[in-house]
Amino acid sequence: MTPQRSNESDTRADFVVVANRLPVDKETLADGTVRWKRSPGGLVTALEPILRSQTGAWVGWSGVPDAAEHPEVEGLQLYAVSLSAQEIADYYEGFSNATLWPLYHDVIVKPEYNRTWWNSYVAINRRFAEAASEAAAEGALVWIQDYQLQLVPKMLRMLRPDLRIGFFLHIPFPPVELFMQMPWRTEIIEGLLGADLIGFHLPGGAQNFLYLARRLAGQATSKGQVGVRSKFGVVQVGFRTVRVGAFPISIDSGELDTQAKTKEIRKRAVEIREELGSPKKVLLGVDRLDYTKGIDVRLQALSELFEEGRVDPNEVTMLQLATPSRERVDSYIKMRGEIEQLVGNINGTYGRVGHPVIQYLHQPVPREDLIAFFVAADVMLITPLRDGMNLVAKEYVACRSDLGGALVLSEFTGAAAELRQAFQANPYDTEGVKNAIVAALEQDPDEGRRRMRALRRQVLAHDVQRWAESFLGALGADPETMSSGDRRIDLVEEV
Ligand code: ADP
Ligand code: G6P
Repeated sequence: MTPQRSNESDTRADFVVVANRLPVDKETLADGTVRWKRSPGGLVTALEPILRSQTGAWVGWSGVPDAAEHPEVEGLQLYAVSLSAQEIADYYEGFSNATLWPLYHDVIVKPEYNRTWWNSYVAINRRFAEAASEAAAEGALVWIQDYQLQLVPKMLRMLRPDLRIGFFLHIPFPPVELFMQMPWRTEIIEGLLGADLIGFHLPGGAQNFLYLARRLAGQATSKGQVGVRSKFGVVQVGFRTVRVGAFPISIDSGELDTQAKTKEIRKRAVEIREELGSPKKVLLGVDRLDYTKGIDVRLQALSELFEEGRVDPNEVTMLQLATPSRERVDSYIKMRGEIEQLVGNINGTYGRVGHPVIQYLHQPVPREDLIAFFVAADVMLITPLRDGMNLVAKEYVACRSDLGGALVLSEFTGAAAELRQAFQANPYDTEGVKNAIVAALEQDPDEGRRRMRALRRQVLAHDVQRWAESFLGALGADPETMSSGDRRIDLVEEV
């Protein structure tokens, strides 16, 4: 189960990323040939450039059952962790995505608490810890990612006390009242406390965690187990100091900015507008097909704007790109049906022959096309009910060196704390979302340029390299002499 390469001690890495997914997914084509394609989601978008810029290993799953081979991807040292079909059902689709994902996203759908899934989560976290232990050189820095692997820090520390261990959560950390629903809440908090540094996107998540660490792990003292004292930004676990901080993630903004300026992308953006029927305004949505993303929120708002005559369906086209995601999980199956029905209803009512007012693609699009879509869009619609960060918002801004375009952004994304000049709205307030869309469509061009310039200043200055440096800098530094965790916690506000 552990990586074969690991036996060759000379290939052990000084820097190891551990994530549920590898940056590439295995795909077997109809003729039996295997190809590796980019994995979905923001975690891979953010971390891939980091791993390319420094030597290191990436431990993860290849997205299909029983695949143990280590993919060869130029410049990356990858170690596959194999999962059986049953383990995928219990650990990945079950505990990770039908328990933790909804619990950490405001219980938008009801989390299921299933003991078989939990047992599988424990077993698979142990497998990842063993794989990381095999891949890491003596004294290496190991960076564990996201909600699927919250037990790995403690498990890995027990296997390899020599390592320096970081953990970053890419999704929101929930309010205390919600987290307390979790039957295995103490195990999760103690699992995370195995790290030397625990990072969240926002200060609120860090504060929730600190409170829970004191309340849950501290509680164990009376049973003669772990003693935990926490103060702002620091948890004392016995003789160990665990630092907790907010590190808002970002994108490779410079790279996107450069790509978006190329002649080819500019030309493709013009073609896209023509292919869409040269509407006066193009609205764009780009998401994994996930109920947290509020795709229904923007569709409902647009539908009402058409009905009330505030937006003319003959003058606008909305393009919704939706990457397939977690397609065997019940809540995703149900939501896909609802979204597709809504798209059908709106097109049936407001479309014309040859001009559907909503164009919807349930497929990932190539990176270059995506950049061209960002350049082509007058209004970017980002309306999640809850989102840890939302990198799409930052990608759109990074692609708009022309200072054109307008961003409609849900207040309940991590990105909203940084992107203050967006047209922000509460996704639960349909009138507010409608007003934000109208304001974005009708913005004065000078005012639009002013907003976009300010947004770009933020996104270009705070890129993913800076994020990684600040996290890894804090992780690599001597905990006794550091206080940056405390300071970092104050960086951004949130809703
Ligand atoms: P999440 O991590 O929840 O999926 P993010 O917005 O943080 O959300 O990151 C999503 C990433 O996936 C972004 O890099 C975005 O460009 C990419 N992406 C989303 N939808 C598509 C799509 N239809 N085709 C290609 N890439 C996509
Ligand atoms: C989000 C999560 C990632 C996850 C990605 C795609 O970005 O934070 O951990 O990898 O979504 O989801 P998937 O279930 O396909 O890996």
